[in-house]
Amino acid sequence: MADPENPRHRAGDVTPRGFTTRAIRAAHRLPVVDQHPTSVPIYQTVTFAAADAAELGAVANRQVPGYAYGRLDNPTVAAFAAAVAELEGAEAGFAFASGMGAIHAALGTVLSAGDRVVATQTSYGTTRALLSGVLARLGVTTVFVDITDLGAVEAALAAAPTRVLYAETIANPTIVVADHVALADLAHRYGALYLVDNTFASPYLCRPAELGADLVMESATKYLAGHGDVMAGVVSGPTSLVHRVRDFQVDTGASLDPHAAFLAMRGLSTLALRMERHSATAAALGAWLEAQPGVLRVWHPGLDSHPQHEVARRLLTRGGGMLAFEVEGGRAAGEAVIDRLSIPVRTASLGSVYSIVSHPPSTTHRQLDDSELEAAGISAGLLRCSVGLEDLEDLLADFEQALEAAAKASSASHLGAAATAGVAAASQPRDLAPAPVEAPPVEPTPA
Ligand SMILES: Cc1ncc(COP(=O)(O)O)c(C=O)c1O
Repeated sequence: MADPENPRHRAGDVTPRGFTTRAIRAAHRLPVVDQHPTSVPIYQTVTFAAADAAELGAVANRQVPGYAYGRLDNPTVAAFAAAVAELEGAEAGFAFASGMGAIHAALGTVLSAGDRVVATQTSYGTTRALLSGVLARLGVTTVFVDITDLGAVEAALAAAPTRVLYAETIANPTIVVADHVALADLAHRYGALYLVDNTFASPYLCRPAELGADLVMESATKYLAGHGDVMAGVVSGPTSLVHRVRDFQVDTGASLDPHAAFLAMRGLSTLALRMERHSATAAALGAWLEAQPGVLRVWHPGLDSHPQHEVARRLLTRGGGMLAFEVEGGRAAGEAVIDRLSIPVRTASLGSVYSIVSHPPSTTHRQLDDSELEAAGISAGLLRCSVGLEDLEDLLADFEQALEAAAKASSASHLGAAATAGVAAASQPRDLAPAPVEAPPVEPTPA
């Protein structure tokens, strides 16, 4: 007999009698909901039942809209991707298990062996590793350029046929701002696609698709989700291209879990409020840092001193929550400041409600050797701060005490070193080099 609550069941269906069959049926019966839920439900299911074999085949092959299997698509995940695409000003979006999943799929969709990429030299370290490692092994060549030097970008594009020009709206970690209007125009003039990682900006600050980008990638792990508790990524762009990205994902498998999509979607509602607050606090902290002794340089798009301040004013709604600063005294001084901060979390991510400090050379950009670090403008004393939603006064007080304590520690160690050197020099006969047997043992360098 047909199950009256299940429209899929037809006259002639067998009435189950066994306990287990009944239990499975009872536990999988969908509730009837006549009123629309106000949140997108979590469709925590891998499979979707079709009316018949023909419908299943048609859905799986995208001949008709619908759902068949979780890796192909899921309503909660699709709702999240569509919401992000709408905010980006793009036709369509597809979501992934992480930002790198999205970037990999975008590049993998449009590149083949023998293709050439021109990419920003100041990109997220793993993106650089994807281009110069994984994709290079598969026959893709990448040339890295200073994306702020439009002459250099054009020369690189003119040098050989190029499939992709790749940039980040605000680049990790030196907060380089890309001029999407000029870069999209250059890419298209030379027959290349323009792909943009918009993670540091989010669609609240910048919408590259509206400025000419062909595909826009977001690590939704950062500002979009915004609370540091979920990983996700999204590719947005024209429907035809996003369908190809989806096909790539079906064959490679970085599917987003529906529960993660639900969490990430919650972040979208407060994106504007959070980005306003992140931006205002970061701008104020940056301006304050600029005036501090021992701080050599501060990078934030909202500061007049930022090298691409004019581009930022044209293309960004606000300066965003990311800032970088360089402290006097190199790596040791940078680490001393980080170790003395008590409000920001010492970790590698960004874009959360809480502030995060990191030392890019030893975290996000650890894949780069010294010369690559130098080319990317990353100095040993560079610190990156993802400014959270804490109260500005608390952050200022914390940075003040950290800078002071680090400066005291550094001058004490200088004095100590000078005193030791002085004693050693005074105890040596001035006219004789010390005999080798009297030389103090060399301490092993800590690993
Ligand atoms: C600019 C940028 N793009 C992409 C990613 C990768 O995102 P996910 O960690 O979600 O894979 C990151 C991660 O830090 C990033 O900073």
